Amino acid sequence: MAMMENLFLQSLSTTSLLFTIGILLASLVFFWSYDRQRKEPPGPRSLPLLGNLLDLKSPHCTLYELSKKYGAIFTIHLGPQKVVVLAGYKVVKQALISDAFSVKEVVPIINDLKLTQGIIFANGDSWRKMKNFAMTSLKDFGMGKKASEEKIIEESQHLMEVFKEKDGKPFDTTQPVRFAVSNVISNIVYGNRFEYDDPDFRSMVERACKNTELMGCASVQLYNLFPWLFHWLGARKQMMKNSRASRRQMTKLIKGLQDTLNPQMGRGLVDSFLARKIHFEASGIMNSHFNEENLLVTVLNLFTAGTDTTSSTLRYGLLLMAKYPQIQDQVQEELSRVVGSRQVLVADRKSLPYSNAVIHEVQRVISVVPKTAHCTSRDVIFQGFFIKKGTTVIYLLSSALHDEEEWEKPNSFHPAHFLDKEGKFRKRDAFLPFSAGPRVCIGESLARTELFLFFTTLLQHFRFTPPPGVKEDELDLTLVGSFSRNPLPQELCAISRV
Ligand code: HEM
Repeated sequence: MAMMENLFLQSLSTTSLLFTIGILLASLVFFWSYDRQRKEPPGPRSLPLLGNLLDLKSPHCTLYELSKKYGAIFTIHLGPQKVVVLAGYKVVKQALISDAFSVKEVVPIINDLKLTQGIIFANGDSWRKMKNFAMTSLKDFGMGKKASEEKIIEESQHLMEVFKEKDGKPFDTTQPVRFAVSNVISNIVYGNRFEYDDPDFRSMVERACKNTELMGCASVQLYNLFPWLFHWLGARKQMMKNSRASRRQMTKLIKGLQDTLNPQMGRGLVDSFLARKIHFEASGIMNSHFNEENLLVTVLNLFTAGTDTTSSTLRYGLLLMAKYPQIQDQVQEELSRVVGSRQVLVADRKSLPYSNAVIHEVQRVISVVPKTAHCTSRDVIFQGFFIKKGTTVIYLLSSALHDEEEWEKPNSFHPAHFLDKEGKFRKRDAFLPFSAGPRVCIGESLARTELFLFFTTLLQHFRFTPPPGVKEDELDLTLVGSFSRNPLPQELCAISRV
């Protein structure tokens, strides 16, 4: 009996031993494969607290350089913050169109400036409602309609007046181009344009552009990483001051529209918003997101995003024409042949493939919004790498526009990128200046129409050259700014062709 018990106990312990080993092996396989799945993107070694900050001098350039070493997806530490960087057309596009990457990153300065409502830095239901509303209003009052063409043509006449007054003498194009572009979005938002010498308008434009510039400056980026340490920095204070003044000014403009509102006669986006707000309140719907703060921040967003990007691109286009006179010759030859002296219209775009290619190439080389940052809304496995929920993901949009695998001459100004062998306009997949996916720019169609009409109308009437005594190759193509890129202020001559 005792022997039987022994045998039984022995076989039991052998079974449980085998069972335990089996469990152990299964757990090992599970953890090994789980660990492989959780493999994070590689990246450079980092210092405690500072991370890789010392390695980064010019943020987007250096990040692009690092992508050549660590691959299209890599991890970097910006101070204490772990960030995943995506580079190159294929990877950037794949992530942009995924829902898991569409939450906008909200850094401390955005909270300070109270910009978490509206569209650009908003998230969730409020963002969705405001984005849909703004897209509908842009269609109703601007884009895709004859109205936007007429507004831009009218504004280009005002801009040409300023250029004509300079009488061929050297001048900096920055201000008049900004005012003209800003008036297009102002017309859509408020229902009216402003005179270029209106001091309120001038200061509104100047503050919007200044804050965009400061948003990308080193000290504000440092504040975003260490807010408890660097809140006293001058650039942040200047941004807060500008923001308070712009809010006051825009609140006054909105109040003026509110006092004279006639729901039957929508003058612009603000009127549409106010009409909806009244409708929701009358229906007892209090959480519609159509509230005063959302209106103010949406207007601020559209004014800023609609001014700086488009005007910098247009100015860079004029500078490139002065720098490359043979390319300017070809644009002007095409305009004279196809359009002659009448007003250029949007419908002419199809018959102006070379001019259209030049405008696209200007957008490609300036890459005016070089990068954008979102967060992951859940744990994601992306291209074999694990990215934890809430991780900041930086997209190097400029790396798609300069991707060596996509563009024949990524670092040159080469309009043929957008032309086929017969000289017809050719679309390119890697052309992503407006981003893509859920966070795509809502002003794309408006900006493209503006760039086309302003650029061709100006080139039809003026020859752009360097100031007397300055050679073409002395013109400086350097771009400054890391949030949005701007050509350096520089004088050009606009010599009348007619
Ligand atoms: C050349 C001109 C322009 C360029 C290159 C440009 C580019 C961009 C880019 C790259 C984004 C970021 C998307 C992202 O985070 O993934 C963006 C967002 C945005 N843009 Fe533009 N933009 C231009 C003109 C405009 C204009 C004229 C308007 C106004 C009508 C505008 C309004 C916006 C808004 C509201 C957003 C936020 C969209 C969102 O977060 O859902 N942009 N733009």
